[in-house]
Amino acid sequence: MTESTEVYGEHLAEFQKTAYIKGMDEYQKLYKQSVEDPEGFWAQQAEKYLSWEKKWDQVLDYDFTEARISWFSGGVLNASYNCLDRHLDTIADKIAYYWEGDNPEETKAVTYKDLYTRVNRFAAVLKNNGVKKGDRVIIYMPMIVELPVSLLACARIGAIHSVVFGGFSADAIANRIKDCGAKVVITADGGYRGGKPVSLKDNVDKAMEKCPDVETVIVVNRTDSGIPLKPGKEVWWHEEEEKTAADTFVAPEPMDAEDPLFILYTSGSTGKPKGVVHTHAGYLLYTAITTRLVFDLKDDEVFWCTADIGWITGHSYIVYGPLCCGLTGVMFEGVPNYPDFDRFWAIVEKYRINKFYTAPTAIRALAREGESHVEKHDLSSLSLLGTVGEPINPEAWRWYYKNVGKSRCPIIDTWWQTETGGHMLTPLPGVAPVKPGSCSFPFFGVDPVILDDTGEPVKFPDEEGLLCIRKPWPAMARTVYGDHERFRETYFSQVPGMYFTGDAAKKDADGYYWIIGRIDDVINVSGHRLGTAELESALVLHPSVAEAAVVGFPHPIKGQGIYAFVILKANATASDALKKELVGQVRNEIGPIATLDIVQFTDGLPKTRSGKIMRRILKKISAGKLDELGDTSTIADESVIDKLVENRVNIE
Ligand code: WT7
Repeated sequence: MTESTEVYGEHLAEFQKTAYIKGMDEYQKLYKQSVEDPEGFWAQQAEKYLSWEKKWDQVLDYDFTEARISWFSGGVLNASYNCLDRHLDTIADKIAYYWEGDNPEETKAVTYKDLYTRVNRFAAVLKNNGVKKGDRVIIYMPMIVELPVSLLACARIGAIHSVVFGGFSADAIANRIKDCGAKVVITADGGYRGGKPVSLKDNVDKAMEKCPDVETVIVVNRTDSGIPLKPGKEVWWHEEEEKTAADTFVAPEPMDAEDPLFILYTSGSTGKPKGVVHTHAGYLLYTAITTRLVFDLKDDEVFWCTADIGWITGHSYIVYGPLCCGLTGVMFEGVPNYPDFDRFWAIVEKYRINKFYTAPTAIRALAREGESHVEKHDLSSLSLLGTVGEPINPEAWRWYYKNVGKSRCPIIDTWWQTETGGHMLTPLPGVAPVKPGSCSFPFFGVDPVILDDTGEPVKFPDEEGLLCIRKPWPAMARTVYGDHERFRETYFSQVPGMYFTGDAAKKDADGYYWIIGRIDDVINVSGHRLGTAELESALVLHPSVAEAAVVGFPHPIKGQGIYAFVILKANATASDALKKELVGQVRNEIGPIATLDIVQFTDGLPKTRSGKIMRRILKKISAGKLDELGDTSTIADESVIDKLVENRVNIE
């Protein structure tokens, strides 16, 4: 069977009884309306999904040449109010989060009222510590309840949060603090992973040495580590909270629809990570509607998105989307293999989870351990499985479908990006059969196009090209923090008048989209983006390294692994110890997610006569596709290639 003829529609009949969007006709009708009359469509959704203090004056105003996008301008609302206050009359006692600790015995059920109370108190703490509307707050935390509380407390007072994933290094924290000019950092002494405490505060301490402008560090006591805090600057979360009354109310700050809600840093092909900015209204609306419709979530269902809140997936589908809709979610502190490889399935059984959303890398890692871990548990509550982060290979897809979904749950393969805020190309469970590896169709209001080399839309089915989006959607990023020109240049200058995704894609004869992968120098490691430029600059900081070129290669679990070609300085000697040092160097600079899989020392790199590294060739070498090196005639010194091939390293 070819990939595009393998279709699975077993779930359709069941979903078409109750789904919000029942069948292709309904989808097509709404889709047509959404792209032909975006203002009408989105105004209607904005009434339905959000509560406004003041309605907007204009639904949409944009200019893709200047990269200026504005939704619901003149409207006033607050994201925290929409996620909490407005639910109190109806669902105060409903569970917002089942929180599951790393230790399976440690659990909490947090109601909407609980969350509201905690957010209000912490909003008061932030205010007492001088945080004001528009200020930036860096958050570096494990997956504990204080993390969503921090996000919502910032949103409540109009402060702009920027979460730094707990797996990033001290330098990464420092760079982000400096870039956004944060004066407050929220962190924890540590967190638990796989049964062991892991320190977080150490990294913040190191970052602080480079960030004298930070005024306050608020620290959650998670691991009872007993670490001392530096007087003056550092305070304990619980002590600050005790200074406020248990029933403290902080009025939600009236925010303009276009006011920034948060900044999230993401890697690109060049330069340092970019601070992608999302807004109070458009982002919230779009995450709410996609949460509802893509996962077809009903009010009595339990949803689990396994992402970390440190990534956009967690922001959109653990915090803002589900809470805005008043749904019940699960938040998990731990890892998929502790205490054993059945942890995910044990959690699904424990909370009777209905809809489950994870990443291909997790599926591959768990599939490798065999079916027995899945079979131990009653997964009959599940009716839908989602995936995100990278193209899912058909083998992993089928394993997930058969063993986890028991061949009755659709796999909802959602393609989107940090910059898009929410799902862009995705199946809807009641609409059409799904195909392994395809993200199906555009969500409402999304107008994709695939362009060929000349910038014209491709003419034939299955023709690969560059994926662009022709019209704005409410959750699209508005700018790169502090550098609008970089925003314009990165996303709107490559193809004038369109949003440039950086991904290649194709559309089959049935209209299904298939993502091929990044066309730029970005490596997708376990569903997370790393820029080759960032990795290379981390390597050349080492005193023994003269030059480095890094590429992604196919990796059985991570999707892509990191392969580094390194030229040493004349006085340095190649050794395994040095390789280890280099791996450590990059982990220190960026964080453990940036662990080099392979380091190959070399005397030369393939370059054009003008000195540009030919990554195309390095990619083929790293992937072992030695008969596909293509045209090497433009290379300055062809002998380099033979040596590189000869010394190529295979992943163990
Ligand atoms: C890049 C965005 C969106 C949250 C997670 C990653 C790749 C993402 C899919 C998918 C194929 C995917 C793309 C995209 N990607 N989802 N379902 N199928 N590729 O967010 O770090 O901003 O990365 O991830 O290459 O451009 P991100």
